[in-house]
Amino acid sequence: MNIAQALALRGEAESYERQENAWLLEHITKIDSFDLVMKLKQELTPEQEQEYVASLARIEAGEPLAYVTGSQPFWTLDLKVTKDTLVPRPDTEVLVETVLRLDLPEDARIVDLGTGTGAIALSLASERPDWAITATDIYQPTLEVARFNAEQHDLTQVKFACGSWFKALERNQFFDVIASNPPYIDPEDKHMSNLAAEPKRALVADKHGLSDIEFIVQQGKKWLAARGWIVIEHGYDQADAVRTIFTNAGFRKIDTVKDYGGNDRVTLGQWQN
Ligand SMILES: C[S@@+](CC[C@H](N)C(=O)[O-])C[C@H]1O[C@@H](n2cnc3c(N)ncnc32)[C@H](O)[C@@H]1O
Repeated sequence: MNIAQALALRGEAESYERQENAWLLEHITKIDSFDLVMKLKQELTPEQEQEYVASLARIEAGEPLAYVTGSQPFWTLDLKVTKDTLVPRPDTEVLVETVLRLDLPEDARIVDLGTGTGAIALSLASERPDWAITATDIYQPTLEVARFNAEQHDLTQVKFACGSWFKALERNQFFDVIASNPPYIDPEDKHMSNLAAEPKRALVADKHGLSDIEFIVQQGKKWLAARGWIVIEHGYDQADAVRTIFTNAGFRKIDTVKDYGGNDRVTLGQWQN
């Protein structure tokens, strides 16, 4: 089988499936995207062909490409992903941009609650080496992946802590920003069946997906420095509810930022104590 035949094995021409086939072939053959289209007649080795066909079968069975290749690009970083982590989504980069736009001290203290692969914490650390960043997760194997990613990208200034939300943190710390992309999908959401490969603990929250967001906003104010911010990712249809949670908790300067698809995605508020 040559590269052109391999590309054509799945999906229509110009489709997203074909793009995924190309990424998979790049991963297996170690040929970059530019060279791949120049080498359409190159034959795959028997081992490459076997790995490619087996990988396509895994994707067809519902596994995200990132679980098959073992990594996912996010921000400027290539991040290891495993079955213990959510695959970081491009829209979460909007949260990173939102935090970077805030007026913060040069040595700002930041915590990323529920860090998964470390996507948010490590992106911020790569842009602001002088910030003191802590990343937490409830699940130790997830945190090990984030720690690995920190080492891979030489971002070893980031500290890691395991535990449920604020329980992971040492007492008497105050942060300039609490950032989080918590689970926010309603357990009854019909899209859950498309996400079956990823850990449920990373996706689903009670109260129609709002229970973790509510907890983080209500409890978070005890962990904020004066004029500190909470910046939260949420579902496209949750902005009104999340703004109400911020308002009821006494936050000011509440705002919602849209994602690259034009959907409400990130809401933030400032604690003016
Ligand atoms: C939606 S994923 C986000 C992962 C990563 N921040 C990202 O944006 O790709 C939510 C993360 O929160 C973690 N998590 C779920 N419940 C938690 C809790 N009670 N305390 C801390 N982390 C939790 C999950 O393990 C998962 O890694």
